[in-house]
Amino acid sequence: MITISIINQKGGVGKTTTALNIASYLSNSNKILAIDLDKQGNLSDNLGVTEPSTTIEDLFLKNDFEIVPVKENLDLIPANIDFAGIDLKIQNELSREKILGGALQDCQDKYNYCIIDCPPDINLITINALSTSDHIIIPIKADSFSMKGIDKMLDFIIKVRESINPKLSILGILICQYSENLTISKSILEEIKKNNWQTALFETKIRKNTAVEKSQYYNKSVFDFDPKSSAAIDYTNLCEEIKNKLI
Ligand SMILES: Nc1ncnc2c1ncn2[C@@H]1O[C@H](COP(=O)(O)OP(=O)(O)OP(=O)(O)O)[C@@H](O)[C@H]1O
Ligand SMILES: [Mg+2]
Repeated sequence: MITISIINQKGGVGKTTTALNIASYLSNSNKILAIDLDKQGNLSDNLGVTEPSTTIEDLFLKNDFEIVPVKENLDLIPANIDFAGIDLKIQNELSREKILGGALQDCQDKYNYCIIDCPPDINLITINALSTSDHIIIPIKADSFSMKGIDKMLDFIIKVRESINPKLSILGILICQYSENLTISKSILEEIKKNNWQTALFETKIRKNTAVEKSQYYNKSVFDFDPKSSAAIDYTNLCEEIKNKLI
């Protein structure tokens, strides 16, 4: 199982959208485990899992938990608001930064990919995601404020790599909600180049597209909602790029 976390401590940049559509696309030919690590439960909602009997909170509290089959080849460990405050509940646990990885041991041979949707935080939960991941994808929103904090997050990722998980790699920074007409989007690209991060930048950019919000309203991936939309095309290209990077 190859584990990929979608992470950025900034809210609303496209983490859940990216997790949802990568998981959906890869499930066409692979067995996928999706994990919702966000108390907002957006990924669970988007996958139509609204009243689960157990959640990711149970995993972290070492209770029995269910892995919910969502569709062919795609299973989910859901989250909901019960996950709020989990940091405090596990803070005295030994190896508290490796609870997720420990619980996923049994899944290693059952799935090809595990896709983790992280919350907009840097905390013990995101450390758990990073400590069990092989790769991370950092979505950024193509607006003037997204660059703030990226350097801090990269420092955090490097610290986790040095102290807990030496195999962790940055698969790429992904520009989401891109609009070619906006000078601000172009200046983001220049900013990235200036910071020497262009090597980590995915060639594919996800364009701003109304199909994204509409698809989520109907609990669908962009592929099921409108396979001809620019979002479906962009996420297809992204997944192909990811597969090539992983060969
Ligand atoms: N390419 C896109 N085009 C148009 N709208 C988009 C696009 N990507 C994401 N959105 C919309 O932007 C909003 C934020 O996206 P999303 O929920 O994926 O971000 P997030 O990083 O997971 O947010 P949070 O930090 O709150 O979990 C959503 O309403 C989503 O539908
Ligand atoms: Mg989200």
